[in-house]
Amino acid sequence: MSGFPTGASPVPGLRRDPEWFKTAVFYELLARAFSDTTGSGTGDFQGVISKLDYIQWLGVDCIWLPPFYASPLRDGGYDIADYTAVLPEFGTIEDFRQLVGEAHARGIRIITDFVMNHTSDQHPWFQASRSDPDGPYGDFYVWSDTDEKYDGVRIIFVDTEESNWTFDPIRRQFFWHRFFSHQPDLNYENPAVIDAMKDVVRFWMDMGIDGFRLDAIPYLIEEEGHNGENHPRTHEIVREIRAMVDEEYPGRILLAEANQPPAEVVDYFGSDEEPECQMCFHFPVMPMLYYALRDERAAPIIDVLADTPPIPAGGQWGTFLRNHDELTLEMVTPEQRAAMYGWYAPDPRMRANVGIRRRLWPLLGNSRAEVELIHALVLSLPGSPCLYYGDEIGMGDNIWLEDRDASRTPMQWTPDRNAGFSSADPGKLYLPVVDSLAFNRGAINVESAMAQPSSFLHWLRKVLAARKEHPVFGVGDFTVVESGNERVLAFLRTDKRNRTPEDRSARTVLCVNNLSSTAQGASVQLGVEYAGARVRDVIGGAVFNVVGDDGRVPVTLGDRGWFWLALETDEDRG
Ligand code: BGC
Repeated sequence: MSGFPTGASPVPGLRRDPEWFKTAVFYELLARAFSDTTGSGTGDFQGVISKLDYIQWLGVDCIWLPPFYASPLRDGGYDIADYTAVLPEFGTIEDFRQLVGEAHARGIRIITDFVMNHTSDQHPWFQASRSDPDGPYGDFYVWSDTDEKYDGVRIIFVDTEESNWTFDPIRRQFFWHRFFSHQPDLNYENPAVIDAMKDVVRFWMDMGIDGFRLDAIPYLIEEEGHNGENHPRTHEIVREIRAMVDEEYPGRILLAEANQPPAEVVDYFGSDEEPECQMCFHFPVMPMLYYALRDERAAPIIDVLADTPPIPAGGQWGTFLRNHDELTLEMVTPEQRAAMYGWYAPDPRMRANVGIRRRLWPLLGNSRAEVELIHALVLSLPGSPCLYYGDEIGMGDNIWLEDRDASRTPMQWTPDRNAGFSSADPGKLYLPVVDSLAFNRGAINVESAMAQPSSFLHWLRKVLAARKEHPVFGVGDFTVVESGNERVLAFLRTDKRNRTPEDRSARTVLCVNNLSSTAQGASVQLGVEYAGARVRDVIGGAVFNVVGDDGRVPVTLGDRGWFWLALETDEDRG
């Protein structure tokens, strides 16, 4: 592709920082969707390798690669038929190893998905389990003579599933599944299952990956009378995996995908003494960012963060705006859900399960101001942000595709055929390129975003670079401060660590965000300890004013406006 500045400076390997994940920016990309180097119509590992310079240029620290393992692909690859084989259309294991090496050489880490809860029904373990109940795999899955056990466990894929049990005509018993009926749940009461899964962890860690996202982790154990989520035994198993990783692969991370309320999701961090995951995705806060933008008030964000218990010192939240799944509305109240469907999914085709299957830009009506504000929020609230491929160039979706494929279409690189994703006959692509009126490949692609200095892509790169200069966004304490205006969310991030004299990064940053669609003024109450501090714009460097003797600072914000303001005290100035 022409016009792309490949001059991204080569970074000599990875930053040697055991807490790298606390200040990292993650980027989720689907190998299938990124770049096709063989003309097969499907992306591949070599394609990802060929785009690593771009990812490095953007300022990404870690790529999250969803499943690329052998699979019949009835659930985007989350239906695994062999944990240690890759899909042939993506390349070979050697290609994958090369990808890890090339990413590391650019200072980029890679985490992959570890789908512990279930396999595909095509997995040889399931085939053996159904045909030979007394054999070594007979007890690898959860079998029952009735479909009445574990009554009361909710169904997750409400659009397609009527029960968590499906009758298997070969074994003539029912098997348990929390997701699709072709995805039987593994039986974690069987120690052989845990051993087999530990070997899977070793296989990929030996390949050099930097960690795992633990897919669908709350559902490992079920018990009569229990709701089947976050069972104490499930936590025991996570602790066991963490202990093994710490012992055999120190420094690699586990990131929990636990779509649970704040008080339950924090349990997947474990404690300092008995750690579970270093990171957990913060599912409850994500929908509240979207909610607050339409409600035009700060309270929904303040409330969900107030409900979030503190996490152990070794932990960090993972935050995100969108990912490969529907924008889940499981964690909001019925009233909030109804409002969000009304605001964000007026067409029933935009909905999937308990959520919305649209991409970020169409969700926000293609409003640059709103997209910038929601990024400013996710990049400054507690946690390490995870971006979703294509959102950096304003990609659209295709709600006429089935299920979550709506937002899994090919990455758009150029205005050319197949948006530069593939040289194949367009009809051969794994999914069509988005060619809608507002989001067509002619307008929305990396090449054209690169060519426009004012594009969102360049904006995002600049803001990510500013964030990287100031580790306070990753490691700082978080305190909401009174803005005197319900439409303005104001909070402080404060780096309380001991610092070296050379460290010139901001110690304290005041983040102010106008959630409203009209200009607003606020008088932020910081406290008298900040009286006299200079207020400096983190992005542009200009000094705005000085905090008053009463500890207040006035701020004027345009519609959807925001600032990150470093507060420089005499101590900071040295
Ligand atoms: C993944 C989904 C997948 C489900 C079942 C998840 O939570 O993110 O894409 O469908 O697990 O495997």
